[in-house]
Amino acid sequence: MPEKRTMANLALVGFMGCGKSTVGRQVARELGFEFVDTDQLIEDRAGMPIPEIFASEGEAAFRVLEKEVVASLANQTGRVIATGGGAVMNPDNFANLKTHALVICLWASAETLHERTRHQSHRPLLQQEDPLGTIREILKERGPVYKQADVIINTELRPQREVAAQVRHQFQESSCT
Ligand code: S3P
Repeated sequence: MPEKRTMANLALVGFMGCGKSTVGRQVARELGFEFVDTDQLIEDRAGMPIPEIFASEGEAAFRVLEKEVVASLANQTGRVIATGGGAVMNPDNFANLKTHALVICLWASAETLHERTRHQSHRPLLQQEDPLGTIREILKERGPVYKQADVIINTELRPQREVAAQVRHQFQESSCT
């Protein structure tokens, strides 16, 4: 169990396609929390969609916006926060989330993540000739970081409502300790 902290919010981390937004929305509804998505907040700030930010400003500029957005959530309460898959690769972002949120990682294998993302085109990092190879490569690098979450939930072969129920349960448990 995570050490005793203020769990004003619940943050979902994990690779692209692991279900952070879908699960997050459902959990927020069930908890009566507000759902926020860092990607959406970034797009609102930039006034353009993420693929356009990557294309016109580059990934580094995207990460600057991402860091600002993550920092802006620190004084909020009652939020379920879905983070972009790369957000916690910046240790400042991870540390920041842990000051106010229970951080839950949704885990899936590279093959499953590929299956879930292969027909989508809004993720610039996966617009490659060999998306599965790319997923494997990035996951290898990110895996050890994702595993520093307070809780890791395996989403393989499980319906999203079941994953959502487990996320909610973990959050409620942590809030009672
Ligand atoms: C990214 C994940 C995306 C988005 C951006 C970069 C990443 O969010 O932040 O395309 O580095 O993994 P999702 O995880 O919500 O797809």
